[in-house]
Amino acid sequence: MAGALIGVGVGPGDPELLTTKALRALEAADRIFGPSMAVDAVGRAESIVREANPELRVERLVFAIRRDDQARSEAHRTAAARIVESLDAGERVAFITLGDPNVYSTFHHLARLVIEQRPEVRVDTVPGIMAFQDLAARAGMVVLDGTERLQLVSAVDGPQAVDDALADEDAAVIVYKGGRHLPAIAGRLEDEGRLDGAVFGELLGLPGERVGLVKQYGDAAAAYLATVIVPPRRRA
Ligand SMILES: C[S@@+](CC[C@H](N)C(=O)[O-])C[C@H]1O[C@@H](n2cnc3c(N)ncnc32)[C@H](O)[C@@H]1O
Repeated sequence: MAGALIGVGVGPGDPELLTTKALRALEAADRIFGPSMAVDAVGRAESIVREANPELRVERLVFAIRRDDQARSEAHRTAAARIVESLDAGERVAFITLGDPNVYSTFHHLARLVIEQRPEVRVDTVPGIMAFQDLAARAGMVVLDGTERLQLVSAVDGPQAVDDALADEDAAVIVYKGGRHLPAIAGRLEDEGRLDGAVFGELLGLPGERVGLVKQYGDAAAAYLATVIVPPRRRA
């Protein structure tokens, strides 16, 4: 019988932001896989699931954060092979991911590799609350109003990613994966007159969380799990 694979978003960190639907999907799964840096390291998504329901067991798939494309594809192939093995055994398989499984997530890479080998497998996702939504709530920020737009950018390749987004003054700009470039991003916001009001959230809902203004924290690099929201330039 064809197995089923479900990508489950567990939210950014606070276990209370794991949805009822996500928890039900995890409780109904025969096996839950989660990304981790090493077999003996509890992944962020796994720690959220543990807090939400300590009875649930997560099997770790190792994805060390390496910029080397070949090493990354190799890790994806190994993980997909393990998932296929589990599906072949007739298990209902869940893969947990921080935030939402359809936004900057490893899930779709894995699902593609699985489908290449087992086209009959059904793939579904359960949406998750994203880090920027949690940050907006904690910072008391209205992200969008009226006809304003949203630009969500990844600064993994450098702070220049924010430049085009900032050119649209009616857009809120959300920067993901920019922790190591925070000082350079803060500098660009200042140059464009958009630093005031820009908020920063690091390790949201996790140990070591920091939430505040970019102005306050932008002088040093932050963790990989850091998010910036720049509000649209609002005229009175
Ligand atoms: C690989 S992406 C994962 C995004 C995730 N799928 C989502 O929907 O939010 C990782 C980026 O998400 C953001 N992020 C995820 N969790 C976060 C958290 N707890 N605190 C701050 N930023 C977080 C950071 O910008 C981080 O670099």
